[in-house]
Amino acid sequence: MKALVLAGGSGTRLRPITHTSAKQLVPVANKPVLFYGLEAIAAAGITNVGIIVGETAAEIETAVGDGSELGIEVTYIRQEAPLGLAHAVLVARDFLGDEPFVMYLGDNLIIGGISGLVEEFRRSGPDALILLTKVSNPSAFGVAELGPGGRVVRLVEKPRQPPSDLALVGVYLFGPAVHEAVRAIKPSARGELEITEAIQWLVDGGYEVAPHLVEGYWKDTGRLDDMLETNRHLLESLEPAVRGVVDESSTVVGRVVIEEGASLVRSTVRGPAIIGRDTRIVDSYVGPFTSIYHSCAIEDTEIEYSIVLERATIRGIGRIEDSLIGRDVEVVPSAARPRAHRLMLGDHSRVSVATTP
Ligand code: G1P
Repeated sequence: MKALVLAGGSGTRLRPITHTSAKQLVPVANKPVLFYGLEAIAAAGITNVGIIVGETAAEIETAVGDGSELGIEVTYIRQEAPLGLAHAVLVARDFLGDEPFVMYLGDNLIIGGISGLVEEFRRSGPDALILLTKVSNPSAFGVAELGPGGRVVRLVEKPRQPPSDLALVGVYLFGPAVHEAVRAIKPSARGELEITEAIQWLVDGGYEVAPHLVEGYWKDTGRLDDMLETNRHLLESLEPAVRGVVDESSTVVGRVVIEEGASLVRSTVRGPAIIGRDTRIVDSYVGPFTSIYHSCAIEDTEIEYSIVLERATIRGIGRIEDSLIGRDVEVVPSAARPRAHRLMLGDHSRVSVATTP
């Protein structure tokens, strides 16, 4: 069995972060999202992994390398343009051969892994095994309609009027029949070859498409809210450890990881939270559900329910919540006259300034 991991795509819903980096590499609980998927694949005993890359190929290849650190062997497959999930299967044809495979969207995260599913697929050997989960906003996903006996009857991509609240999770298991399906379908209204339509083609052709309801936790981390929520969830099962330096005037409460080289000076960190390598927290409060990545400087600041990426500096601007702060970002006060906010923000940035009542 092989794995096909999709790490192309342009991540429009996470701009401006994704103007400069791949959405699959945004860290949650200080680990790139993509790594959780690759670890789950390795844990399921699959070592032969193809990764579909697009514009951000160089960055993904630098982060993952040959995969040996994760116990897998990676082949990179270039997709010239984000032309859809079924298109990714088309371009991976040579790599996949006729072996069954798990297709895993690199920005999806399933807590509890995929070992059970892979086993179920191996045992029952359907042409496709799809994962479904109940969501409150089915229009944002591929949606499945189940018929008598729980059979899959219909799949629709991002329907305006969803036939059910069962969303397709971004992990699929396929036998070789899918190759015929992806060749047979035509691009959708958004110009993509949809995997949803390829699976519908299998259903219509009498192939066996088995549904599996996901009970564990699943998130597509393509949007800020989902990213922060996933971060919260992962931090809740953190194994506390203090490997950095905490001075006598600092307090660490609850589930907290302080990584090597990090230091806390006159500060409080209330978990669950993680402070990355070589990050300095001075005269600050870091509240629950916060991940601060490597080499950041947080001074005279209160921050909660947020993700901060590497080398960011935040100093003296009050309290921050519900935020994703990019790499090398500086958020600092200014005493210069005239008194004003002075901003240099990337395209698609969003700033909400707390005004004084
Ligand atoms: C894709 C699929 C959709 C699925 C979703 C899961 O959507 O097209 O069917 O429900 O992944 O994450 P996308 O995130 O590419 O819009």
